[in-house]
Amino acid sequence: MPGFIQASPLQRIHSRFFADLEVWIKRDDMLHPVVSGNKFRKLKYSLPALSATGASTIVSMGGPWSNHLHALAYACKERGLSSIGLIRGLRKPSDPLTPTLQDCLAQGMKLQFVSRDDYRTLRDSDSYWRQILEFDLQGHSWLPEGGSSTLALRGVSEIVVEVQQALGGDPDFVICACGTGTTLAGIVAGLAGRGTAIGIAALANADFLNTKVNQLLEQAHYPNYTNFETVKEFDHGGFAKTTPALIEFCQEFEQETMIPLEPVYTGKMMYAVAQLCRQGRFSPQQKIVLLHTGGLQGRRGFTQT
Ligand SMILES: Cc1ncc(COP(=O)(O)O)c(C=O)c1O
Repeated sequence: MPGFIQASPLQRIHSRFFADLEVWIKRDDMLHPVVSGNKFRKLKYSLPALSATGASTIVSMGGPWSNHLHALAYACKERGLSSIGLIRGLRKPSDPLTPTLQDCLAQGMKLQFVSRDDYRTLRDSDSYWRQILEFDLQGHSWLPEGGSSTLALRGVSEIVVEVQQALGGDPDFVICACGTGTTLAGIVAGLAGRGTAIGIAALANADFLNTKVNQLLEQAHYPNYTNFETVKEFDHGGFAKTTPALIEFCQEFEQETMIPLEPVYTGKMMYAVAQLCRQGRFSPQQKIVLLHTGGLQGRRGFTQT
């Protein structure tokens, strides 16, 4: 893909929040100006595979600020594919489109707004999109929410290889934010039983995450690795919700390190890791790698940051 760099930088973080600890950040936010972070990794193999099956249009789903749809619209256009986004929540014609959806439209993605009930059903069924799609179904293929697919794990697992090469050995921890759990599953696949992956839930009621990671590993034919854990107490009230403490942390961290955060995923992950450090979860001998999963376009939804 034009404008994409081969391996994202692995940068040492010097911050008062991680004093005395060896903390690194894998800057996947720098992979590509539009298809950044875990989106690039997830689409790297899954999009060509869908295209190889003869699909000419990729149908997927997301919210009005979806990083996934934003990246997908661009990546599809690059590959000469059409795209359709099923958007959570019905909308009056007079309601303004978010900048994210305006970008999707500008990349040629067609948008269809669906009720929250339909959206929930789409999450649970890989075929429901066929029943509700208002467009012709010919040559259309489905990509689940967040780009979650077995091939996404392969793309994400390459992060670990890059980290090992840059560190000259295995990290003790690789930590990422979790929505669907696909990125965490890809990290676990890449670690292949060495070290520990930690997923920080960016949404409430995230008890499904461990099962989801196990399912994805199984479906993608990886061994049932158990060297991962999920942390659920730093959701700040739920998906895309923030607290003053989170916003203040993101601002302080950015000023100190010059590393840009957004408060939906990587900001919550960073905040959680700072708390875990305070609680003594890590020791100075350990190498801790945090994954910046991109999504900085979503900052436009937060005037405070
Ligand atoms: C920027 C960003 N980080 C992290 C995640 C969480 O990734 P996953 O859905 O693979 O758990 C997402 C959502 O997909 C995201 O957009």
